[in-house]
Amino acid sequence: MSSKKETVLVSGGAGYLGSHTTVALIEAGYDVVVIDNFSNSEPSSIEGVEKIVGRKICFEEIDTCDKEALRGVFERHEFNTVIHFAAFKAVGESVEKPLMYYQNNLVSYMNILEMMKEYSRPNVLFSSSATVYGEAEVMPVTEQTPRQPSTSPYGNTKQMAEDILRDCCAAYDNFYGIALRYFNPIGAHPSALIGELPRGVPNNLVPFITQTAAGIRECLSVFGNDYDTPDGSCLRDFIDVTDLAKAHVAAVDRMTQGKMKQKYEIFNIGTGRPVSVLELITRFEKANNLTLPYRIVARRPGDTPFIWADTTLANEELGWKAECDLDDSLRSAWAWEVHLHER
Ligand code: WQD
Repeated sequence: MSSKKETVLVSGGAGYLGSHTTVALIEAGYDVVVIDNFSNSEPSSIEGVEKIVGRKICFEEIDTCDKEALRGVFERHEFNTVIHFAAFKAVGESVEKPLMYYQNNLVSYMNILEMMKEYSRPNVLFSSSATVYGEAEVMPVTEQTPRQPSTSPYGNTKQMAEDILRDCCAAYDNFYGIALRYFNPIGAHPSALIGELPRGVPNNLVPFITQTAAGIRECLSVFGNDYDTPDGSCLRDFIDVTDLAKAHVAAVDRMTQGKMKQKYEIFNIGTGRPVSVLELITRFEKANNLTLPYRIVARRPGDTPFIWADTTLANEELGWKAECDLDDSLRSAWAWEVHLHER
């Protein structure tokens, strides 16, 4: 562990990515102020973080859409950097409820940016997504790969938020931004004390796999095996959530140590390795020594057939590289699912 550094505000810090990042920040010597409104998370994840790091953390139950409540956080705490995770994230739900998504994801974000400016806090790290690339033709995608028009309000909020941050960095002195474009985060902390907490039927592949293995879901549906890929199923870049958490620490280090080369920077956060849906299922079965019932069904509308990251920029500029073994990620994902049923 390194010596004490400064404080980081983590919005949405009780969520899946936020909780793992909070642990990584504390382990790297940062202090944290975590805010969350538990709209898609539980107080138990804060308790999990505290058990892992072995002490209480500074947590406030705050809705980032509530500007005056958020102002209180800026009044009470000194920090130079925010990591803004707080957002809704279900692609399908965003198509059905666009206003809910634009309202929540953009208003909370605007409030964060306005407060950062008003209180002269310079560093904004934004949670973006590989979804901004849409159906790119050339693989792997680099940060220069043109973004495609978004096919969902969720994706649209990510693109808009990137652009808003770019514009703020261009316009304001002492205002810096980094957007991290996450590929497909999976797995859980090796302690199984924190992990993903999907509400209802999971949209994402790995939580659906673990719930099927646990008998909560009867059978996993594989959405299509007739894509133009080696085994016909989609290819994704599955990145362990603890690796992803470390990428945030590297980005915060870069910002707080004045190492940014531009006022606004973008980094892909993935492994650089494509893995197919069918391969992931087989790897999960082998890693955990169990059999997963699955069937092939029709393609899911809107799915991109393949996407994986070129991570050269993050490797070279952030000095960060994904290190976890996929089998370990699939074991930690299963350990977390088992933990959920034992608590
Ligand atoms: C992965 C693959 C599915 C479920 C989305 C968002 C992205 C990010 C992560 C944020 C696809 C297949 C899935 C199932 C399946 N968002 N699949 N059966 O679509 O790559 O990315 O989630 O939080 O912005 O776009 O991830 O996990 O939904 O799907 O066959 O039951 O698994 O078709 O090929 P995706 P995913």
